[in-house]
Amino acid sequence: MKADGLKIPRHVAVIMDGNGRWAKKRLLPRTAGHSRGMNVMIDMAKKARELGIKYLTVYALSTENLARPREELEGLYDLVRRYFAKNVKDLYAENAAVRVIGDITALPEDVQALIEDGVKNSPANPDFFVILALNYGARAEITRAVNQAISAGQPVKEGDVSSLLYTKDFPDPDLIIRTGGELRLSNFLLWQAAYAELYFTDVLFPDFGGRDFEKAIKSYSSRNRRFGKI
Ligand code: FPP
Repeated sequence: MKADGLKIPRHVAVIMDGNGRWAKKRLLPRTAGHSRGMNVMIDMAKKARELGIKYLTVYALSTENLARPREELEGLYDLVRRYFAKNVKDLYAENAAVRVIGDITALPEDVQALIEDGVKNSPANPDFFVILALNYGARAEITRAVNQAISAGQPVKEGDVSSLLYTKDFPDPDLIIRTGGELRLSNFLLWQAAYAELYFTDVLFPDFGGRDFEKAIKSYSSRNRRFGKI
C-alpha cells in the first residue's frame, strides 16, 4: 500500500528497548521509563494507523523479562492493567482491535481476566490491530507448535507451522524496528521474521516519536524486497 509515495508495510513489529536507560539517565525508577514507553506506544499506534499500517505488534514483555525484580514486574503489570482498563476503549472507538501473543497464564489472574475481556470486547471487523506480545518468546512459541504437531501425529508443512503459532491470524511482519541501540532480535518473532526488513535505531523507546517512526517507514519504503528471488 502507498501513502504520499511511500510503500507502507502491512505489518510492523517493534522491540521497544531502552526504557530502563531512559529512566536511569534521569535518576528515575525503571518503571517511569516503562510508563513513558506506554504513552509512546499509544502514540505510535495512532501514527501507524494514520499511515495505513494494518497490524502493529509490540514486544511489551518477553519470557525472559519475567525474571526481572518483582517491583519492576509489578510496575509493568500495572501498565497492562491500565492499558486494558482504559486505553483499549480509544482503540475500539476507532474500529481497532487488541490482540495478545504469548503465554498469559503466567501473569496475575486479574491481568489475565482484563486481557481476555479486552480481546473479547474488540470490534468484530477491525481495520487496525494492536498486537501485544506479553510473556512472549519465539522459542517457546515454536516449541509449543512442535508439541501440538506431535500430538496431532501428522508431519507438518511450513504453512502448518505458521498456523500453530500465536500469530496464526496475522500476516508475517514486513518490518521489525528495534529502538535502544542493540542489534539483535532477542527471541522476537523468529519464525515470522524470515523475510522481514530490519530497522535499528539508537533512539531510546521513550524518546521514539512520530518523526522517528516515519523515518523507519521511509527506510522500509526505499528497500527492494526480493524474498530470495532475483
Ligand atoms: C525494554 O526496555 C522494555 C520493556 C521490558 C517493557 C516495554 C513495555 C512498554 C513500553 C510498556 C508497554 C505497554 C503495556 C501495555 C505493558 P528495557 O527495560 O530493557 O530498557 P533498557 O535496555 O534500557 O534497560
